[in-house]
Amino acid sequence: MTTPPRFFHGTVTALENVALARGTYRLRLASSELARAIAPGQFVMLRFPDRLDPLLGRAFALMDTVRDEHGQPHAIDIGYYVVGKMTRLLERLRPGDRLSVWGPLGKPFPRYDGVRELVLIAGGIGQTPFLALAQRALGLVGYSNQPARRECEQVRLVYGTRTADLLASVEDFQRLGVVVHICTEDGSAGYAGLVTDLLAELPRPQRGDYWVACGPMPMLRAVAKLAQDWQVPCHVSLESPMACGTGICYSCVTPVRSLDGWDYARVCLDGPIFDACQIAWDKI
Ligand SMILES: Cc1cc2nc3c(=O)[nH]c(=O)nc-3n(C[C@H](O)[C@H](O)[C@H](O)COP(=O)(O)OP(=O)(O)OC[C@H]3O[C@@H](n4cnc5c(N)ncnc54)[C@H](O)[C@@H]3O)c2cc1C
Ligand code: FES
Repeated sequence: MTTPPRFFHGTVTALENVALARGTYRLRLASSELARAIAPGQFVMLRFPDRLDPLLGRAFALMDTVRDEHGQPHAIDIGYYVVGKMTRLLERLRPGDRLSVWGPLGKPFPRYDGVRELVLIAGGIGQTPFLALAQRALGLVGYSNQPARRECEQVRLVYGTRTADLLASVEDFQRLGVVVHICTEDGSAGYAGLVTDLLAELPRPQRGDYWVACGPMPMLRAVAKLAQDWQVPCHVSLESPMACGTGICYSCVTPVRSLDGWDYARVCLDGPIFDACQIAWDKI
């Protein structure tokens, strides 16, 4: 088995750019180097090679790797929601168009070995890192040259959006055997309310359960508070704006607890996944 290269920086070709939900797309980028190296929880930085605006790259989490007919990883999928400069341009990408990419960046999700139930808590586009994590944790796919190996007994997804037409990839999770709970703020699908309201309605976590959350900061803060109240271990995956993605610019820092009180950590290098009780929520 060959060792995958640890870092790729180059120009890649878009293979597909398909709509998953309103303003939400899955972009497939051809790169066997990236696909062999990247693991769930890691991200890549994207830039347009021929444009100065937007000047800085944008970070996008790995949604999944794509394998060829011989089972070899040859492309990566990222999922994005159109909000601003970069994502409006991504929306116009066609197969054959080129993008500058560097990665894999950040630390992957740790292994959840021996966990009874892994509960993935997603707000909006925050569901993107969870498809790959669910497959890895259920032992269905191995990433980064590692063989597939089951980590936990079961995976549950608690997923909320503002309205029903923003829900994406729900069937993909269900196909894996993930138990899915949906909520929308306007009640147009599933439970009416916020993800944390729905979490509070579900059976209390048991010993051996683990929560992992990704979504907007207010949601992460509320999930972290609930996890602390219920004494359930919890990871949060942060999506702080970043410029370099490689630890140089300090544009991505987040306050974390330290022996002296608190300090800053670089989300791109030390994260994007943090223990929820490691974050100094009162300093954000
Ligand atoms: C580790 C990491 C992983 C990420 N993974 C993903 C991912 O998988 N999919 C994805 O779509 N994005 C992801 N992001 C966010 C992404 O990097 C961009 O910030 C986002 O796509 C907006 O870029 P833009 O140029 O389109 O918007 P900009 O022009 O930079 O911003 C336009 C406006 O939108 C606001 N804005 C920025 N992001 C959001 C948001 N998420 N929701 C609502 N408003 C926002 C900004 O505050 C600003 O007011 C991730 C970020 C990090 C750090
Ligand atoms: S994005 Fe530059 S240090 Fe994190």
